[in-house]
Amino acid sequence: MSQIALRPERERQVEQILSRYPNRQAALIPVLHVYQDEHGWISEEIMQVVAERLGVSSAHVKGVVTFYTLFNQHPVGKHQVWVCRTLSCALRGAESVLSHCEKRLGIHPGETTKDGKITLRTAECLAACGQGPMMQVDKTYHENLTLADVDRILDELQRS
Ligand code: FES
Repeated sequence: MSQIALRPERERQVEQILSRYPNRQAALIPVLHVYQDEHGWISEEIMQVVAERLGVSSAHVKGVVTFYTLFNQHPVGKHQVWVCRTLSCALRGAESVLSHCEKRLGIHPGETTKDGKITLRTAECLAACGQGPMMQVDKTYHENLTLADVDRILDELQRS
């Protein structure tokens, strides 16, 4: 697989997304998500391809990719662990969840474990404030976390 190609099922996803939007530019964010799901991150080459597909400038695509922290601008681990650290989660123990993750994984936010399995990140509010502390692992929310929950989740990721 080239650095920018999509598998046929992902290509179909892009075509479906494009068919739902009267204006191709409006499809930029969902299309970027498909490319990120395929490759794990958005390279300069991918930005160029997406810009050409949607008929927008590559500067516009880059602006979107750099604005939204959910888009990875560098290669990342197989799994993404996002710990919310905004106020509601902070008041309910987000710092201890984050420091527990750091200790367990031996990395700090923004880093990836040596085996390439897990990238640890911090996030601003992920809209699950009533269920904090919480973290997003890939596309799944884990809420009302205890440190035992964190251990179980990280164990599963490390075994995957
Ligand atoms: S403050 Fe953590 S989800 Fe909103």
